[in-house]
Amino acid sequence: MDPTAEPLLRPPCRELADDGVTVWRVELDQPAEVASALVSTLSADEVARARRLRFRIHRQRFEIGRGALRSIISSCTGVDPAGVRFSYGPRGKPGMVGLHFNVAHTGGLALVALSASGPVGVDLERHRALLERAAIASRYFTPNERRLIEAAGTSGGDRLFVTYWARKEAVLKATGNGLWAPLDSVDVSSPRDVDGWKIADLDVSPDHAAALATAIDAGPVEWSEWRPDVFHTISRVGGEGART
Ligand SMILES: CC(C)(COP(=O)(O)OP(=O)(O)OC[C@H]1O[C@@H](n2cnc3c(N)ncnc32)[C@H](O)[C@@H]1OP(=O)(O)O)[C@@H](O)C(=O)NCCC(=O)NCCS
Repeated sequence: MDPTAEPLLRPPCRELADDGVTVWRVELDQPAEVASALVSTLSADEVARARRLRFRIHRQRFEIGRGALRSIISSCTGVDPAGVRFSYGPRGKPGMVGLHFNVAHTGGLALVALSASGPVGVDLERHRALLERAAIASRYFTPNERRLIEAAGTSGGDRLFVTYWARKEAVLKATGNGLWAPLDSVDVSSPRDVDGWKIADLDVSPDHAAALATAIDAGPVEWSEWRPDVFHTISRVGGEGART
């Protein structure tokens, strides 16, 4: 391997201080050669999962999301991207020894939250018009949340609904097993500490709601941007695409 490429294979990981949390923003719509380079870092089960996806765009987004996740973990741990081993919780939450992380994606955007100190959950939702808002809200939201949503009108209420949803889902994803207090008993109308979790909104874009759930004593959140140019380097220095 070209030694000059080595630093690019290890982009600087934001300081994962003992209590720190880093959220990486990943653009999933990348040139096909980026996906091809990243496929070479995926495990056999990940490649098989990608192949099962019917549409090319979904396949590529999955490959880039998983490949980016591996490269981010690699940058923080020094383990080669292809050498990162995931285990899966009873409800499918990916994890690994020594590092807590969680992923959310919608459309062409993904977020990867990393923490050295404790479980994290992240959720990302696109703001959209909701046809069955009241029915779903009656199942998952507290009376106070429902009142605030209805008072915000049609589009304001839709935005509030999606914001609350992201906050609740972030906590569900932090637990990994969905076991949390009944969702309609926990009020998340302001981002705050709930049941041992600290919930924070993430400012991703005007089109998205995003939330992060961490341990109460987690430190400040740092942002980072995943850069695909790193992987052009991987392919240039001899990474083999597993797919032609
Ligand atoms: C597992 C679950 C959390 C995924 O949520 P989603 O909105 O479909 O997808 P997201 O983009 O947020 O997250 C997907 C990622 O979460 C991770 N993940 C998978 N299972 C997970 C679990 N049990 N816990 C946490 N994270 C999980 C994976 O990294 C996955 O990425 P992948 O698809 O590339 O493997 C979801 O299917 C679920 O069960 N949600 C609970 C439903 C609910 O009651 N919601 C009410 C909120 S008010």
